[in-house]
Amino acid sequence: MKYLIFLTIFLNSLFAESYSSGRTDVAPVNNQLYIKECGSCHFPYQPGLLPTNSWKKMMVNLDKHFGVDATIAPEDFETLSKYLNDNSAEKNMQYKRSNRIVSSLLPGQEADSISTTPYMVQKHREIRKDLITQPDVKGLFNCMACHTTADKGIYSERAINIPNFGRWED
Ligand code: HEC
Ligand code: HEC
Repeated sequence: MKYLIFLTIFLNSLFAESYSSGRTDVAPVNNQLYIKECGSCHFPYQPGLLPTNSWKKMMVNLDKHFGVDATIAPEDFETLSKYLNDNSAEKNMQYKRSNRIVSSLLPGQEADSISTTPYMVQKHREIRKDLITQPDVKGLFNCMACHTTADKGIYSERAINIPNFGRWED
């Protein structure tokens, strides 16, 4: 009887794992102003991909945003700062990727971007460098170039298609 219970728990956890892999890795974006203002130059990165202090640092430096001026109107700045703060990675620890990104940073460490967080660097270390720098991708910041469902918050390996390489088989 005891063994049967253990077996049931084991099978349940296997099922839960395969089921969750088809679900979102980070909470999807649900703010129209954010999509409009922060999705015009690149896809709108989910707030759950960075902790609060990293978003704050990025927001106060929008005039020097990766070599471009991404300044926004003061009222939009307030709304979007609050949106990023309320939906940042620490507020979304039930999502696997948000949890891993936060855990990979030292307490209080401010990340300058998502792609340079230790978790992201580690996850992408096996990809050939020329596949990342090729013109169709340009850099790791371009999540959508390889993760076909990044805009839905789904980064599972099944949804990866690297330009001029194809699907990723581990
Ligand atoms: C005027 C264009 C522009 C606007 C508007 C803009 N960005 Fe960016 N952003 C860039 C550029 C350029 C980069 C560097 C990567 C690239 O070339 O796409 C970047 C990079 C980023 C990255 C880092 C990606 C990585 O490598 O991990 C984040 C996060 C980001 N932007 C968030 C935002 C947020 C939040 C807003 C809205 C407040 C915003 N961006 C508005 C141009 C813009
Ligand atoms: C050049 C293509 C490419 C780009 C650009 C890219 N990724 Fe990835 N990503 C991959 C590949 C390939 C893997 C699987 C790596 C492995 O398992 O060894 C991966 C893995 C991941 C994983 C882990 C998924 C899992 O099931 O373990 C996450 C999360 C992720 N990427 C998020 C991002 C985000 C966010 C961005 C943008 C800031 C991004 N990636 C940019 C190709 C890319």
